[in-house]
Parts: sequence; C-alpha cells; structure tokens
Amino acid sequence: MSKKVGVGLLGLGTVGSGVASILENPENRHPLVNDIQIIQVAVRDLSRKRSSELTNATLTDNPQSVVDDPKVAVVVEVMGGIEPARTLIMRAISAGKSVVTANKALIARHGEEIATAANAAGVYVLIEAAVGGGIPIIEPLKQSLGGNKINKVSGIINGTTNYILSRMANEGVPYTDVLTKAQELGYAEADPAADVEGFDAADKIAILSGLAFGGSIKRSEIPTQGITKLQSRDVDFAKRLGYAVKLLAISERLDPSPQDSNSLPLAVRVKPTLVPLNHPLAGVDGVNNAILVEGDPIGQVMFYGPGAGAGPTASAVVADILNIAGIGQTQKKHNRKP
Ligand SMILES: NC(=O)c1ccc[n+]([C@@H]2O[C@H](COP(=O)([O-])OP(=O)(O)OC[C@H]3O[C@@H](n4cnc5c(N)ncnc54)[C@H](OP(=O)(O)O)[C@@H]3O)[C@@H](O)[C@H]2O)c1
Repeated sequence: MSKKVGVGLLGLGTVGSGVASILENPENRHPLVNDIQIIQVAVRDLSRKRSSELTNATLTDNPQSVVDDPKVAVVVEVMGGIEPARTLIMRAISAGKSVVTANKALIARHGEEIATAANAAGVYVLIEAAVGGGIPIIEPLKQSLGGNKINKVSGIINGTTNYILSRMANEGVPYTDVLTKAQELGYAEADPAADVEGFDAADKIAILSGLAFGGSIKRSEIPTQGITKLQSRDVDFAKRLGYAVKLLAISERLDPSPQDSNSLPLAVRVKPTLVPLNHPLAGVDGVNNAILVEGDPIGQVMFYGPGAGAGPTASAVVADILNIAGIGQTQKKHNRKP
C-alpha cells in the first residue's frame, strides 16, 4: 500500500465540508483519492454541530497546529478572508508544504508575494477553485492554452449577480426583490456588497489577467462598477433592442501597447455590459459562470459551468490536491534507485 498524503484543512464551512465529503468517499473516483488522508481540520467554533463525517481527522480551533502538524504535507486553506489566512499560508510555505486555496480575495491582493515565497521554497500553491468554482480555468490558462497569444479574457464570473440579472430579464422582477430571493436561497450573502458592487468579479479578473498575460495587476486599480444602479426597465429595454445585460469582467491586450513603460498593455474592467443576444455569453443564465478566452491561434474557447457551491468548488480543490499528490508520486518514482 502506498503511503498516504496528509492533508490539513483550514476551514470546514461550505467548501471545506465539500472537500471532506469527496475525500471521505473515494469510491469510483480517481485512484489517487484513496491515497489522501485528512489529518487535522481547523474551525473557529468547536461547539458547532458538523454534518461532515471525518473518520480519522482531529478537529481543532488552532489553525496553526494544522499547519505545523508533521503529518500534514498539503495545507488546504478554505477559511476565507485575508488574515489569518495569509500568515498561515506563508507559514506552510516556509515549512516546505504545498498549499491549495480557494481564496480569491487573498490571491488577488497577495498572490505575487505568495507565489514568490512558494517558488523560493520549491513548493506548489494551486488556486483552481479561486475563479469559476468548479470550472477548470486556471490550469487551462497555465497549461493547455500555453501555446497561444491570449488577446482577451472576458466572462461572467459572479453567479449571484448573474442570477439577479437573469431573473430581472426573464421575469421583470425588480432588483431589490430578486436580491432578497437570492439571499433566501443562499446565493447572496447577508452583506451582498462584494457581489453586487462587482468587487468579487474584480478579484477574479485580477487573477485571470495575471495568468493570461503575465505581470502583476493592481487589484485596487481595476475600474469596477456593479449592478446596484440597474433597474428592470434598463434590462427590459436592452432585451427589446437585442441585448442581454451581463456583469462582465474583461481583460484585454491593448494594441498598440501604451508608450508609457509603467502602464500595463492591458485594459481591465468590471461593468454591466450590453451583450448581443447571439453572443455565447448572453445565454449564460442563473448562477452559472462562463469564461471566454480569445487567443491566437486557437480563436475562441468558452469554459462554462457551476461557478460556486460546495460540490463544484470542492471538485476544483480536490483536483489541485490530486495534482500535488501526483507530482509527489512521480518524483518518488524518479528518485527511486533502479
Ligand atoms: N462558497 C463557495 O461557493 C465558494 C466558491 C469559490 C470560492 N470560495 C472561497 O472559499 C473560501 C471558503 O468559503 P466558504 O463559503 O466555505 O466559507 P464558510 O462557509 O464561511 O467557511 C469558513 C470556514 O472556516 C472556518 N474559519 C474561519 N475563520 C477561522 C479561523 N480564524 N480559525 C479557524 N477556522 C476559521 C469556519 O469555522 P466555523 O465553521 O467554526 O465558523 C468555517 O468552517 C473563501 O475564500 C471563499 O471566497 C467559496
């Protein structure tokens, strides 16, 4: 039997529970799932009743002890927020441990610092779940589309606002009523600002821009406009003129590049946009996400699917854990004496 890869989970909320559920039920999945074992799990409130079954893992309210556990080889950060998540990830990297995170807010602001530390330590920090939930988009941009000159990445990368806009367009329901319904259904937070003001989409397009075009995108400099000022009649007029209103996050190459060597040769923005009804993004409705990548020589390729939720997001997190575990196994095979 091969030695198990020890995982430490920081967080057992929506995403953490989804990850635990996959790892605790390996039947009919990739054979490597059998080789992953959750060792410790950090939560904030130990007294809270948990639905996730954890066979052999210990629950703690001390996230540092998860990172420091010698049996933990991969730290999975699904607690959210900037601190203490950032410090814990940096601590894991310093200890030579690879990290998987779904934390777009953190990666959009501190991704460069984290990547530099990971490179220096020779460990991996994988972020597939940070953009598009279950949609594989990070690996394609890093690997599969690597032979292309990417010219534009645009997409619907916030499910809450897409749900609101879809219902306003299809049923004529006023913005505030749909927002209340989205909160009831758990699609929108009690404080919906990050979604409806476009901040969440700005975090995600900052990450996608860095991957597609290289260089660092200052998150604070992305012009961002949300959907709070839109009324049902705006969406209705647009529809009658042959357009859907979508909150698009766009990053595109400027041609020619600006003369000023300090400016990035990119235009990045988040704003409600009129999308012709025959455009591939116009038909993306409800909480789904879609990302359209335009490159040379590939042309257009669209990635579509569930952009959030326990199952889809955990699917992406587990894929990253398996990638790290798989690399470890390949290295062991290569290092083995003949
Ligand atoms: N939810 C989604 O669909 C989704 C999709 C893509 C990406 N993400 C990202 O995934 C991350 C997690 O999101 P989520 O929806 O799973 O959040 P969540 O449901 O609020 O869960 C957060 C978990 O982290 C624990 N936690 C928070 N602060 C902690 C601390 N200081 N020490 C120990 N434990 C702590 C909480 O403990 P308690 O249980 O005791 O409160 C909880 O178990 C975020 O970065 C989010 O942006 C989420």
